[in-house]
Amino acid sequence: MSSAAFSARISATVNGDAVQADVAARLSLADFLRTALGLTGTHLGCEHGVCGACTVLVDGQLVRGCLMLAVQIDGCRVETIEGAHDSGRLAQLQACFHERNALQCGFCTPGMLLTAAALLEQQPAPTREQIRDALSGNLCRCTGYHAIVDAVEEAARRPRVPSGPG
Ligand code: FES
Ligand code: FES
Repeated sequence: MSSAAFSARISATVNGDAVQADVAARLSLADFLRTALGLTGTHLGCEHGVCGACTVLVDGQLVRGCLMLAVQIDGCRVETIEGAHDSGRLAQLQACFHERNALQCGFCTPGMLLTAAALLEQQPAPTREQIRDALSGNLCRCTGYHAIVDAVEEAARRPRVPSGPG
């Protein structure tokens, strides 16, 4: 049997829902989320770990969905932009992105939001340099980044609200 035909049974929690699936050995996490679960907010740009469009959280850690295999999430908790709550930091960031015109085509936005939320979780009052550094692995071809940094800075200034898992 060729290795391409090999598949494995995985069990994981995705956005709070229990998921079980048979996945091919070489299927990426991003492809699994998009094709098997229909979670197309996980975008695919470079598919080589460079652009950050495929950013998701696995057990609370930011990962590149294109570089991780679906089989690796067995037993893990995965959060995508679709799991983002309507309250908490993510909602604040979304409002600030909207107000500061921090998106144009929106292709980079899910990854930017998840990365920015993780930053504010660890560093509630980051400097602009720290924001730029945290977002340096997320590429945006539209905005020139200034508005994105403005939006994250603005979200950090706002009173902290209870945050959901997203
Ligand atoms: S699609 Fe994964 S980093 Fe670009
Ligand atoms: S808004 Fe278009 S890539 Fe960032």
